[in-house]
Amino acid sequence: MPTDLLFKTLPLAQQTTVRIYIDEQMHEVPGTLSVAAALLAAGHLACRTTPVGDNERAPFCMMGVCFDCLLEIDGVPNRQGCMTLVRDGMQVRRMQGARSIA
Ligand code: FES
Repeated sequence: MPTDLLFKTLPLAQQTTVRIYIDEQMHEVPGTLSVAAALLAAGHLACRTTPVGDNERAPFCMMGVCFDCLLEIDGVPNRQGCMTLVRDGMQVRRMQGARSIA
């Protein structure tokens, strides 16, 4: 499913960009995006897979309710991508399967 028509940024949001790393691949994104929005804009629809069934999950509500946007952000697992703004140099990893409890 193409995402370019679904997610258009406002002209104001395009003035500054930051570099984030998604699964170690660099992406330059508008600095006003949430991590979940940046992930979708970069073409990554799935944030994680479920512990049971290994099914892909993607950001759904974009307002902190569904928890389908959980990601590892700067080494911290299970952070809500839709509630976290991008920052220059941020390291984002999509999570696979069951989490380990540290
Ligand atoms: S997309 Fe629903 S909590 Fe983040």
